[in-house]
Amino acid sequence: MAHYQQRGHIPPKRHTQHRDGEGNLYYEELMGEEGFSSDSSLLYHRHIPSAVQDVRVWELHDHGTTPNHPLRPMHLGLHDLFPGEDWKRHDPVTGRRLVLGNADVRIHYAVAGETSPLYRNAIGDECVYVESGDGVVETVFGDLTVGEGDYVVIPRATTHRWVPTGDAPLRVYAIEANSHIAPPKRYLSRYGQFLEHAPYCERDLRLPTDPQVVDAAGSSGVEVYIKHRGPGAGGIAGSVHLLPHHPFDVVGWDGCLYPYVFNIADYMPITGKVHQPPPAHQVFEGNNFVICNFVPRKVDYHELAVPVPYYHSNVDSDEVMFYVGGDYEARKGSGIGVGSITLHPGGHAHGPQPGAMEASLGAEFFDELAVMVDTFRPLEVGEAGAAVDDGKYAWTWAGGRK
Ligand SMILES: [Fe+2]
Repeated sequence: MAHYQQRGHIPPKRHTQHRDGEGNLYYEELMGEEGFSSDSSLLYHRHIPSAVQDVRVWELHDHGTTPNHPLRPMHLGLHDLFPGEDWKRHDPVTGRRLVLGNADVRIHYAVAGETSPLYRNAIGDECVYVESGDGVVETVFGDLTVGEGDYVVIPRATTHRWVPTGDAPLRVYAIEANSHIAPPKRYLSRYGQFLEHAPYCERDLRLPTDPQVVDAAGSSGVEVYIKHRGPGAGGIAGSVHLLPHHPFDVVGWDGCLYPYVFNIADYMPITGKVHQPPPAHQVFEGNNFVICNFVPRKVDYHELAVPVPYYHSNVDSDEVMFYVGGDYEARKGSGIGVGSITLHPGGHAHGPQPGAMEASLGAEFFDELAVMVDTFRPLEVGEAGAAVDDGKYAWTWAGGRK
């Protein structure tokens, strides 16, 4: 994020002495992307941020995937993944289950009631969509209060933990990249300001509070769970570092690298006289994938408009739609509802279910809410995706399987 921020106590000049009330020096850390040639922040720690007392393996949940072969569109019912009260013993990090993934991005789902361990994703940025529930994401930069409809964008290697609050389960749709996640470049000026045509802007972003300094490491130290590149499935491994001091020891920071929140309700949809293509709905992008959202909106106002999408072949992409609210017009008759995912792979033209096009004629408003991830490399199916595959979506345009 290109917008400069500062929090807490920082010295007037970079890389100069910064001391507490007793005269002790703080430890300055430069956290930077792309070899320190892109966004960065300077953080001032009370303790040496490199200090590690022990390491052990973190046995990650199943990150294995199976190719979508023979190729077919799929409907996955995510709400079947955590039945009953199962969510009460899971947290939003270690409770994640892998739905779909490839070498660029992995889509996980979790329903959680427990606080996560301290966690750091060293593989890439995360964009975690909060489907429902409330919580606080405590980070080394400060806290973010999160709730329904929030995209929580957490830069690579940011130490944080998820704390569900309230009585309802916290449902999270975690998009884990192998790269950075940012607003589309075409929404930004050459220096990073949101342009007038962008469907959201700086005012819509919710930023961290002042950093919350935690001193209570205790004699046993503090563990941080790290997901990183390594020998596991998909080249992903987990490790736990034991620190002598709590990692939330930052008294101040400044820069352009920090976590933030954007709520889907603050997305101002771009509509037209005729149907607008998917890029009009884009919200973020990463390397080899984009994130779009479809929000309640007035629809096409040409007198002969067909409001639902045309059949389309997104020849370079697999499309993943997560239906999070409303009434999805184009999928009527397919069994798809809130909590569903559809996977429309490249190589297969897709579009409205039979009858949906005719039924949409004359519609003036779509009450739909969905989050879409389009990937340029094919997606494979994780264990959670395979567990809730309805097995019959592919035949819904033809009236059944032969
Ligand atoms: Fe599509």
